[in-house]
Amino acid sequence: MSTHNVWTHKGTFLLAAVGSAVGLGNLWRFPYLTGENGGGAFILIYALTIFAVGIPILIAEIMLGRNSRCSPIMGMRFLTRTHQTSRSWESIGWLGAASAFLILSFYSVIAGWAIHYTGLMFTGALIDVDAAGVGQSFDALLASPGLLTLYHTLFIAASALIVGLGIHKGIEAGLRVLMPSLFVILLVVLSYGAIIGDLGAAASFLFTFNLADLSLEGWLQAMGQSFFTLSLGMGAIMAYGAYMPGEASLTRTAFSIAVVDTAVAMVAGLAIFSLVFGAGLDPGEGPGLMFVTLPLAFAEMPGGALVGGAFFILVLGAAISSSISLIEPVAAFLVERFDMTRPQAVAIMVIASWALGLLTVLSFNLWAEGTLFHTLFGRSPFAFIELLTNIFMPLGGLLIALFAGWALTHAEVMKEMRTNERWFRIWRFLVRFVAPAAVAFVFLRSIPQVEGYLIPAIGAVVIVGAFAAGRTFLADDSQEL
Ligand code: TRP
Repeated sequence: MSTHNVWTHKGTFLLAAVGSAVGLGNLWRFPYLTGENGGGAFILIYALTIFAVGIPILIAEIMLGRNSRCSPIMGMRFLTRTHQTSRSWESIGWLGAASAFLILSFYSVIAGWAIHYTGLMFTGALIDVDAAGVGQSFDALLASPGLLTLYHTLFIAASALIVGLGIHKGIEAGLRVLMPSLFVILLVVLSYGAIIGDLGAAASFLFTFNLADLSLEGWLQAMGQSFFTLSLGMGAIMAYGAYMPGEASLTRTAFSIAVVDTAVAMVAGLAIFSLVFGAGLDPGEGPGLMFVTLPLAFAEMPGGALVGGAFFILVLGAAISSSISLIEPVAAFLVERFDMTRPQAVAIMVIASWALGLLTVLSFNLWAEGTLFHTLFGRSPFAFIELLTNIFMPLGGLLIALFAGWALTHAEVMKEMRTNERWFRIWRFLVRFVAPAAVAFVFLRSIPQVEGYLIPAIGAVVIVGAFAAGRTFLADDSQEL
């Protein structure tokens, strides 16, 4: 059942996990959410969640992967057998596969926009165009199903090619070129922003922590974002963890992933807001921040076309290193379960996800409103798919935390973590109680118009549920308190 593949180098897991974590979430979603939610206060909650909840779940997820040495679905099947727990824990694998499939479908469409903007920047098409013109050009892109489908196809095909070549020749080799180049471009864009834009304004916007600025919705979005940005709760990290050599330290690796991911988000935020403030534009533009506000800032600045083009290549590279980690868990499962060749497995996953992506494409134009879908679900297909992933990811994270916290034995965890008893206890407390309670918060995002008192109530229910699950599902011999 096991594939027994292992990364060539000790550091490759870190490279791959950072590649997965750093993506549109850091460069596109993080800056616009921060902009919409008033800056520093949002970042404070985001950073706290990363360290108190994200890192413990990250450790749990890598641990499950490395312990089972299989794709998430087969891996969870193996772990439920060896730990004599209920087979319902296998839902972790299935939920992950479903989220990967859903996220890839829209991730690829949005990444495709960056292909368009790379072209617009390098050709100088936006130079001297005014704000209305830049906005119209974005609207025109969204209004064209043909163009969106073309970019979506190009992006997903490129990702499929890399994964199809295998974990060594494709993923490892690709990441080894991609990741260092991305860091160089990021630093170039930051320096450019610092010289030409207003770094001081950006820094004070990002690092002035005034909690009163933050709405309940802002809190929930900050926590949801910390899951999304670390690629948590859906098996991507588990699949990569399965290829991790046994001797690499889990705690240190998980910590490094979180630190690098957060640093990239901060640097991207500083660079983007320096340019936006330097050009006297509004930071609270929402999803259009990267595709309308930022191109406008570039258009007005000397050398902006060139640096802007490099910036969108950075976006593309970061997105592709994430999308390959969305394909890998499902492809690895198809290979293990149905004995397919890797190219066949990748093709099936990618073609299905591509087809689903067409719904996202149409959600921006022909099906933007007034369809039967809107009548049934009250939102566009894209918004619906995003909502599903916003539910599945935290749910997956919750189950992973509970399984790793309650089902794995003390000895197993110590073997994987290679740490001292104190860290072990802190970690276990966090995955058993703190992470489940925090996930309950994140869920509230998908329940509209909740009253404040529901939060503690749901937190309490989840904690009690965690206990109940621990008692019911798990064999007594796995509980060494
Ligand atoms: N972390 C990615 C980003 O920041 C997005 C993402 C979410 C993801 N879940 C994932 C990537 C799972 C790969 C696998 O853009």
